[in-house]
Order: sequence, then structure tokens, then C-alpha cells
Amino acid sequence: MQVHIKNLTKSYRDADRELTVIKNVSFSFPPKGSVAIIGRSGIGKSTLMHLLGALDTPSSGEILYDDTNIGMLSSDERAAFRARNVGFIFQFHHLLPEFSAIENVSMPLTIGGIGDDEAKEVAASLLGRMGLKHRYGHLPSQLSGGEQQRVAIARALIAKPRVVLADEPTGNLDVQTANDVQSLLLEMNRELQNTLIIVTHNNELARSMDVVVEMMPGGVLVPISDREPRYA
Ligand SMILES: Nc1ncnc2c1ncn2[C@@H]1O[C@H](COP(=O)(O)OP(=O)(O)OP(=O)(O)O)[C@@H](O)[C@H]1O
Ligand SMILES: [Mg+2]
Repeated sequence: MQVHIKNLTKSYRDADRELTVIKNVSFSFPPKGSVAIIGRSGIGKSTLMHLLGALDTPSSGEILYDDTNIGMLSSDERAAFRARNVGFIFQFHHLLPEFSAIENVSMPLTIGGIGDDEAKEVAASLLGRMGLKHRYGHLPSQLSGGEQQRVAIARALIAKPRVVLADEPTGNLDVQTANDVQSLLLEMNRELQNTLIIVTHNNELARSMDVVVEMMPGGVLVPISDREPRYA
């Protein structure tokens, strides 16, 4: 599935001024493989990710998943589209605190209409692959940061989304755990043959992606795979 943005603009309005973070930007992401988005703090990377995931609406312009213009969908249709096609991973995991690891992971499947037992079976096998075999019944508060993040990744991937959006998924992890989480993301990306779009300040992580794109002022996206990422 190929994600395109066309003449995308996003402004935030405060009481007395308007801040245009993304200004008339067009870009086509690759139809599969991994893309790192880098760029300085405050430039608009999270803003773009929220727009791509339809968690926020553009001021103008379009976001297309293949031929589907997500701005033209009703909010119900958009939610259904998102559940079917998009997985999110954030810097802080956003797991539901009152549900166990396996319940958090199986939830996208049960919401999609798959029976509880079958969903739990799939969730268990995915958690097992992530090295969390003995953590199925733990609540998020009973897991370490890296374990929580792996649970969040399992939850984002369980429904085999065509597009995975990850906003600094390893930002709050130590180097070793960040490397493990990153390997897992790339492994799943290859296995599912989907598109992984990942925002990162981590040079090493950025370099291991197929394509590196730098966000410039105005939200302009410039591929820079042919040179060293500028921001660490
Ligand atoms: N809801 C909002 N209302 C007003 N301004 C906002 C809002 N969200 C973000 N901004 C502003 O938009 C700009 C871009 O923010 P954004 O979070 O997209 O940056 P970022 O590139 O993700 O930065 P970082 O690397 O620090 O996460 C910033 O100047 C920020 O203050
Ligand atoms: Mg951000």
C-alpha cells in the first residue's frame, strides 16, 4: 500500500496567531519497506504522523492510501480504515493499564470481530516471538519499559497492517533495548511486506532503514539516503 500526501498544509491556531507547520507539501512514500523521518525538534514530524494516521485533520490538502483519500471518509469509515490498515507505535506505549499484556495485544483482533480464544492464540504466539512468553498475564505496570514497548509493537502489528507509523518508538529505551526493538520492527516489516514509517532522532536506527527522509522547515520532505543523516 502506498501512502501519498498532496499539497498538505497544517496550521495550528492559538488565540492570536497561526503557526503553519506543514505548508503545501507533496510526497509519495515507498509502497513497501522502511522509511526513517528525521529532522530537528519542533519541525513537524509528529504533526505529520498524526495526519498520516488520521488522528488529526489537515488544514488543506490530501492524504491518500493507494486511491483512498482518507479525508473523504466519514469518521466511522476512517476508524474502520485505520483499524484494518494502519498500526501505530508511539514513544510512550499507550497500553491500556487495566488490561494484561495478552489482552492489550489481542484487542485489535477482537474489535475486528475475531473470537476471543483465536485472538488470544495469535497474540500469544506474537508475544512469544517478542520474548515475552512468561509475561502474558502481566499488567503494563508490572512490565519494564522495554517489555511494555514490545507489547505495544505486538498490538500494533497483530492485525497485519499495511502501513505502520512509529513516532520515536525507541526514544525512551536504553541502547541495547532500543536495538532489540528496532530489529524486531525491521524483521516484522520484512515479514509482513508492509510500509514502516518511523520518526527517529537515532542516527543508527535511521541508517538501517531503506530510505531516510529529512523534514525541512515548512514540513518539506527531502530524501537523503545518499548522505549521512544530519541530526542525531
Ligand atoms: N496541538 C498543537 N497546538 C499548537 N501548536 C502545536 C500543536 N502540536 C504541535 N504544535 C507545534 O507545532 C510544531 C511542530 O510540532 P511537532 O510535535 O510536530 O514537532 P516534532 O518534529 O515532532 O518535534 P520533536 O522531535 O520534538 O518530537 C511545534 O512548534 C509545536 O509547538
Ligand atoms: Mg515529535
